[in-house]
Parts: sequence; structure tokens; C-alpha cells
Amino acid sequence: MPAILTDIRDEIRALKQEKDAVLLAHYYQEGEIQELADIVGDSLHLSRAATKVTASTIVFCGVHFMAETAKILNPAKKVLLPDMLAGCSLADSAPADKLNRYQEMLRINGRRFQTVTYINSTASVKALSDWIVTSGNAEQIIRRVPDDVEILFVPDRHLGQYLSEVTGRKMILWDGACMVHEIFSVGDLLVQKKKLPGSITIAHPECPANIREHSDFVGGTEAMVKYVGTFATPTDFLVATEANMIWRLQSVHPKHRFHPVPGISCACNKCPHMGRNTLEKVRDCLLNGAPEITWQPEFDRAKEVLERSLLR
Ligand code: 13P
Ligand code: SF4
Repeated sequence: MPAILTDIRDEIRALKQEKDAVLLAHYYQEGEIQELADIVGDSLHLSRAATKVTASTIVFCGVHFMAETAKILNPAKKVLLPDMLAGCSLADSAPADKLNRYQEMLRINGRRFQTVTYINSTASVKALSDWIVTSGNAEQIIRRVPDDVEILFVPDRHLGQYLSEVTGRKMILWDGACMVHEIFSVGDLLVQKKKLPGSITIAHPECPANIREHSDFVGGTEAMVKYVGTFATPTDFLVATEANMIWRLQSVHPKHRFHPVPGISCACNKCPHMGRNTLEKVRDCLLNGAPEITWQPEFDRAKEVLERSLLR
């Protein structure tokens, strides 16, 4: 008699084995998904880790551009995304045809530039770019762009502004933003700081300048995990990024206390796109072998740019 699997977690573990699959999860996934994942990380770590997977199937618990990137870097793998509608407001803010027209206009006006694009973008936009950056490698890549050309930074204007400040490079900024990071309330952050004297504020560079200005540390999700690890005594951290990051920080650094910085209209700051993935959808995509990211014509050009930017 086969054992009766009552817990969905057991079902997922058994299906991973049966289907020769690994589960990759971003830090913004619910804790129960991160717990089950084989690899958890930021966009950079997950993109690189995907290229080292030996299993034939990758289940990507994140959003569409992440799963798409994993497929582009690993054409021979089957890449599944538990919910195909898990999008991203940043990727949506830069349609490829609009970028193409804008680049043409700059060229007609005699501007010499390279396009540096945040990984939170579609493959068609990546295919129009010279470089792809994540929050983890952006400064390094910006320093690879020759000094005698301008930088067109797409699509996150806040990250672009931050990178312009830290590298001293002037940039033409696309007008996009992350719907989660854009709504942190600076007023509420200042109230929290007063209530918790001695607290340390950490913010993602997707946050607007008014939040970054009041932060002790600005960095991507992986950098946050490392930074918090440098504090020896129990400390209060005010966290200005997607709320599930707190689950991760708390499990890696249990002696500290983490407090979410509230948003203007809500206190949760959860990404609705990331939140589309659930344990049930993870199980179902393993069972059905779908929804699957399939190869698209623009992936060939996007692959060159991604490999040059993230793997070399
Ligand atoms: P990182 O994990 O690369 O910091 O990215 C944050 C993010 O917004 C992903 O959607
Ligand atoms: Fe996109 Fe922001 Fe959600 Fe990340 S948190 S997937 S940048 S909408």
C-alpha cells in the first residue's frame, strides 16, 4: 500500500523527486515556499544558480521575468512558473516598442549612449539593451560602461537615481517604479525611528530618495542579509522592502528584531505578483508540467546580453 500523503509539503517533496525538479524561490515569496525551496536568493543569485542546476526541471517561485531569465540562460531545461500571471510593475512600465522608439529618437538627436536595463524587465526589452543589472551587480556593471557614452537606465527611476549618486555617472532615467517600494511612507518611518531609538533602517534601492535619505543602509536583498549579519548585539531593524524579506531576515538572524516600514495606504507592503504563487500552485505545476516558459524569438538576443552581464 502506498503511503497516504496528507500534507501538501510532502506532496511537493515527492513530486520534486518524481519529476526530477528543483525549486528556486526569491526572498519575496511567502516563508512556507522559501522553506520548501532547494535554493533561495536574490535575482542575481537565482539567475546564476539556475545555470548550475542538474535536474531537468526548474520550478521558479518568483515572478515572470525571473522564470524567463532562468529559461533564457538554460534553454535545455523545462522552466515552470506556478502562476503565469505573476508579473511586475517595473517590467510593465517599459514596453519594448516604446523603448525602441525612445532609443531611435536619442540616436536621431546624435546622442551616443548605452542602455543599462534592470533585470526586472521583459526579454524583448533585454534584447534592446547593452547591459542587464540586478541590485546585486549594478554598480560593477555601470563601471564597465565607457565614460564617453551616456547611460540610458531602464526602467526603475529610483534605482537609476541611486546608482547615479553612488557612481557619479549622469543618466537618462526611464520613468518606471516598483509599486511596492514606491509607497513607503517617510512620515511613518520617522515616527517609527523616534519610537525605536537606536534602530537601524535598511532600504532597498528601489525605494524613492526620501526613504533612502533616512536609511542607514541601502542595498539589495542579499546585501541586506549580509549587512544585518555584521551586528553582534541584538538590534531593531526597520525594513523598507517587500514584507516577506522580514521572514528571511528573522530566520537567518533570529537574535535581531525586524519591523516593516509601513506603506502610505497599507501596512503590509507585500508584492501582489509574488503573492500569486501558493503551495497549491507549486504542487499543481509539478503535477501538470505547466505553466511552462517556452522559447521565444527575442530570447536569442536577450541571452547574449544576460550572459555578458551576469555570468562573465
Ligand atoms: P533583489 O532580490 O535582486 O534585490 O530584487 C528585488 C526585487 O524587487 C525583485 O523583484
Ligand atoms: Fe516587481 Fe516590485 Fe513586485 Fe519586485 S516587488 S516583482 S519589483 S512589483
